Amino acid sequence: MSVITTIEELRILAQKRVPRMFYDYADSGSWTESTYRANQSDFQKIKLRQRVAVNMEGRSTASTMIGQKVAMPVAIAPTGLTGMQHADGEILAARAAKKFGVPFTLSTMSICSIEDVSKGTDGHPFWFQLYVMRDRDFIERLIERARAANCSALVITLDLQILGQRHKDLKNGLSAPPKLTIPNIINIASKPRWALGMLGTSRREFGNIVGHVKGVENMGSLSAWTAQQFDPRLNWGDVEWIKKRWGGKIILKGIQDVEDARLAVESGADAMIVSNHGGRQLDGAQSSIEALPAIVDAVGKQIEVHMDGGIRSGQDVLKARALGAQGTYIGRAFLYGLGAMGQPGVEKALQIIHNELDLTMAFCGRTQMDTVDKSILLPGTFPQ
Ligand code: GLV
Repeated sequence: MSVITTIEELRILAQKRVPRMFYDYADSGSWTESTYRANQSDFQKIKLRQRVAVNMEGRSTASTMIGQKVAMPVAIAPTGLTGMQHADGEILAARAAKKFGVPFTLSTMSICSIEDVSKGTDGHPFWFQLYVMRDRDFIERLIERARAANCSALVITLDLQILGQRHKDLKNGLSAPPKLTIPNIINIASKPRWALGMLGTSRREFGNIVGHVKGVENMGSLSAWTAQQFDPRLNWGDVEWIKKRWGGKIILKGIQDVEDARLAVESGADAMIVSNHGGRQLDGAQSSIEALPAIVDAVGKQIEVHMDGGIRSGQDVLKARALGAQGTYIGRAFLYGLGAMGQPGVEKALQIIHNELDLTMAFCGRTQMDTVDKSILLPGTFPQ
């Protein structure tokens, strides 16, 4: 294979190497996928202002997210079933993030457990994403496990009390581990690298959950399991309850609306993520980059605002930063790298984005992240 220079090439390689069920899981949006597509295409509408004859020496993409130093304002997003894109996927991605100097966020729905990731990164702090489930004792234990693992922030996801319908997951019969039906066996047989990796690891189930929740031996169908376990009554009182128990930094994920952004400020969280769950929940919602400016306008002085959804390049990161996001998250962009090549693939994804971010910032006449604002964008091309 020739030299890989784009996230799109990593995607194509991942599609070849990862069993269809798991590739599709990562690469789907809900229903018509209109929000999923808009997340990416709305970035393309925003135009940058080229500046010339500006001293470009001494550039740095370094910044901070929730007061923590980051090599660039990009964190690894929490994604479910990451350890099914590649054996031990969460550990490998966490190692890549540690090496690069950006935060790694572990999903509650991960294959490798909190303890696996902590051990696999020599106790390096990471962020833990919490889903609120009906079993509150389990949630309390999860919080304690995150604390014991030295997690430096809790990311509470607010937009998945119920699961959006993604057609391909239903058609593929998504489950972890995969059921050994004839079509699955045939598909997996054509992915020898993946299969070999999986044979070499014992981590093939939801590591944070199986063995920790009474009566859960195996997850069978993901949609049926979420319907059974996730708490549809989740509300702001629960956020307060979690905040008290955790006592550390809190990031609220899934804010799209200015009214919810104000409530998030009232909750005392440290940051919020403007997110539509990668277009996987409410199909027909605004893209994240379109929703961002109004939220920054309303609450940006009181709370740190981050965003995710549609980021596939350093140019996208720069545009989000220009519109007021102190930090961004990549989900699919790192999963493609992971599925394509394991840890080196995640490192490659981070390098590609970093390189694009660094050069694009320079072409716009800036050398430091803190000087990036709306003035690098062409008026009339960006959402207000
Ligand atoms: C879980 O977070 C999902 O989007 O499937």
